[in-house]
Amino acid sequence: MAKKKNKKQTKNWKKFWKIGAEEFNTQFLGMSKDGELVATEGHHIYNLHDLARKYGTPLQVIFPFVLEDRLKDLFGYFQAYIKIYGYRGKFFYHYPMKVNQNKEFVLPLISEGANLEVTSANELWIVKKLWEGERFNEKIRVLCNGPKTDQYLSLIEELRSKGMNIVPIIEGPEEIERVLKYKGDVGVRVDLSIKADTHWDKKFDRFGLSEKDILNLPKMKNLKIMHYHLGSQIKTQKSILEGIKHAFNIYQGLQKINPSLDTMDIGGGFGISHEKKKFYTAKSVSSKIIRLLKNLSDKAGIKHPNLAVEWGWYVVDPAQVTIYKVISKKYIDKANARAWYVIDGSFMNDLKDTWAIHQKWHTIPVNNMTSPLKRVWLAGSSCDSDDKYTAGGDYILLPKLNGEDQYIALLDTGAYQDSLSSHHCLLSLPAKIAVKDGATKLVRKHESAESIGKFFGWNGDKENRL
Ligand SMILES: Cc1ncc(COP(=O)(O)O)c(C=O)c1O
Repeated sequence: MAKKKNKKQTKNWKKFWKIGAEEFNTQFLGMSKDGELVATEGHHIYNLHDLARKYGTPLQVIFPFVLEDRLKDLFGYFQAYIKIYGYRGKFFYHYPMKVNQNKEFVLPLISEGANLEVTSANELWIVKKLWEGERFNEKIRVLCNGPKTDQYLSLIEELRSKGMNIVPIIEGPEEIERVLKYKGDVGVRVDLSIKADTHWDKKFDRFGLSEKDILNLPKMKNLKIMHYHLGSQIKTQKSILEGIKHAFNIYQGLQKINPSLDTMDIGGGFGISHEKKKFYTAKSVSSKIIRLLKNLSDKAGIKHPNLAVEWGWYVVDPAQVTIYKVISKKYIDKANARAWYVIDGSFMNDLKDTWAIHQKWHTIPVNNMTSPLKRVWLAGSSCDSDDKYTAGGDYILLPKLNGEDQYIALLDTGAYQDSLSSHHCLLSLPAKIAVKDGATKLVRKHESAESIGKFFGWNGDKENRL
């Protein structure tokens, strides 16, 4: 009887923390019988409380199997609907490297069949190293967005001459002439005149050619891809579908002039709600996209386009959690929260979107998951009054401190945060581990004062007296 009651209580707490639930992208997270956060990969279990104590905090934990599962599912949905609707175009996934360039993210995605999208010569340099090390299949395709500096274009040319399927995407009028001389496939980005349901302010959009200019491009016999990107974290599936409908008209016009055009790349933007309200799903959107593209092209009497997507956030965000330890508590008078919990890291440094776009985070305890709770706000360890997380002025429920070290986890931190991170007050970045096949790999050690000092020019030479 007691066992039954315990099981029910565990279930209630899991529900309370929204873990073990597909709709919150936490199906791999659970709770041990001691109230500790665990992650499950097949029959392997990783206890995150043990890992936090072993490796120290702040700590990022990467779950490569989550990346692989999410991408596998995405391929599965599109391939299934292509079959069901008799669609004759192909589906391609291009991983936008800007979302997370760490090796532990890029390699598992490539192994699941991801192509790549890069935005700078430096990202392309990583691709070059992989290529030279024969780390990926020759057939992989690399799309090159972003302003084409001379260095960037030369690298594109070099890799094409070595046999890579690498496609520069024209972003602006100044690139047209140079890309026209390119011998391989090329693409062009269009700045759609419609506004999607995102926080992106359309009046500051400066990427791609206008709808008018794109139709006035000189004829290109190697034009293969028409690309657009409506912004990140699109809030509704309607908005994704409206983008496709609108873009299709331009695609059709462009194809009349350039019959080699056969691929529509709809960019990124598939969202994940950190506020954890119910959200649209990849399964339903993929079905609607294929049906819509089929109907539009059948009606227009043109070949079904190949479809490329660059959904970064959706695929990688849930594959990492960031763990902090609470290092002190301060009472708050007259606010939604009763106390500040100060953490041993920084929102401004490690989770920049907290500050930049007022990102909300799914925040849960790593231990004491079944203890009495307190309404708190979280403060980072830098001197900055903006270094805080208050869930938008509301509060976060976390366990009351009981004298034991309290660890907390912020979920869904895999997208963008690492390359945006900084060193305010010279705080160290989180250490980084990856858990896979029952083993743990240390990917980045805690930064020492010396290594951060070096970054700021304190090289330990005589002149610095270090
Ligand atoms: C051209 C392009 N593709 C893809 C992405 C990835 O977007 P998301 O992570 O929102 O899916 C971005 C993000 O800025 C982008 O600029």
